[in-house]
Amino acid sequence: MEELKERILAEGSVMSNDVLKLDALLNHQVDPQLIMRMGKEFADLYRTEGVTKVVTVESSGIPVAFTTAFELGVPLVFARRKKTLLADPDSLIERVPSFTKGIVTDIMLSRQFVTENDRILFIDDIIANGDAARGMIRIIERSGATLVGVGIVIEKCFQSGAQAIRDQNIRLDSLVKITSLQDGQITFG
Ligand code: G4P
Ligand code: NA
Ligand code: NA
Repeated sequence: MEELKERILAEGSVMSNDVLKLDALLNHQVDPQLIMRMGKEFADLYRTEGVTKVVTVESSGIPVAFTTAFELGVPLVFARRKKTLLADPDSLIERVPSFTKGIVTDIMLSRQFVTENDRILFIDDIIANGDAARGMIRIIERSGATLVGVGIVIEKCFQSGAQAIRDQNIRLDSLVKITSLQDGQITFG
């Protein structure tokens, strides 16, 4: 998505050799028109796949997952992050480490909203090492639903997450690939 590359160059800032700050585009502020176009891109990729629900994890995945769901005409379900958990037999929970935050969180999805009849498109904003994504994929598998694919806005190719998911024979599409952040330079793939 050329437009998104231009916006990343203009509004992103390289924090280190592996972290790109994207508060202006994804993590703190969003441009609704741009997010709508991202949702259209994902919807176009999956339009013939019989998707019944779009799933993401709060918080930064929600805007683009919403526009994707809107374009596909299906509900959006966002998994919640929980610091403390009340035992809830109706919830699917996975514990995941977080790359940027350096903490462990539990992500939770109610069985009420994803069932074995669903065909799920999982959307997220950024993939790094893929811990959160793998947790979400495990939850979808445990629900009995079919995971049709994973749509990621920005794939950091120099970290292992996206490839590890593809290696599980799961379809993964990203709108922009970043191959390096070395020396403050953003290199696209
Ligand atoms: P991973 O699954 O790919 O390993 O990522 P991980 O869980 O380690 O990432 C934790 C959080 O850090 C995620 O946000 C992810 O989007 C974000 N992240 C990873 N690398 C970068 C980066 O280079 N730049 C930015 N801006 N974010 C990055 P999250 O925990 O889901 O939080 P939220 O943003 O959804 O609230
Ligand atoms: Na996210
Ligand atoms: Na994020």
